[in-house]
Amino acid sequence: MAYSEKVMDHFQHPRNVGEIENASGVGTVGNAKCGDIMRIFLDIDDETHIIKDCKFKTFGCGAAVATSSMATEMVMGKTIEEAMEVTNKAVMEALDGLPPVKVHCSLLAEEAIHAALWDYAQKHHIEIKGLKKPK
Ligand code: FES
Ligand code: FES
Repeated sequence: MAYSEKVMDHFQHPRNVGEIENASGVGTVGNAKCGDIMRIFLDIDDETHIIKDCKFKTFGCGAAVATSSMATEMVMGKTIEEAMEVTNKAVMEALDGLPPVKVHCSLLAEEAIHAALWDYAQKHHIEIKGLKKPK
């Protein structure tokens, strides 16, 4: 099992680890396959709906750390609608791929981002196109 250089880089130097105090949206999800947990914090501008900051915490493995690190970088600066395009597939592509047994780990970041966006949407009584209620 070989990891790409980008995966190794994001695993060894993860970006945006931590918490955001008074975050606009928080999402916590568990991985059905391995039981690992991921939490995503979003800071969103209420007028422009642009994601100003994004941080994550996970109990997941190295692949979960690397995908979350990349995902947080990818959603920052985007609007909440554009952030919906940051799928686990898009994140894996940006990391030059993941070994097949680790693909489930990359779902954590996507699901947690969606849960955080859902939290924000609920608080502000808005709808985000394509966003479904988290399980
Ligand atoms: Fe659980 Fe990767 S094995 S997140
Ligand atoms: Fe927990 Fe992968 S199963 S780190």
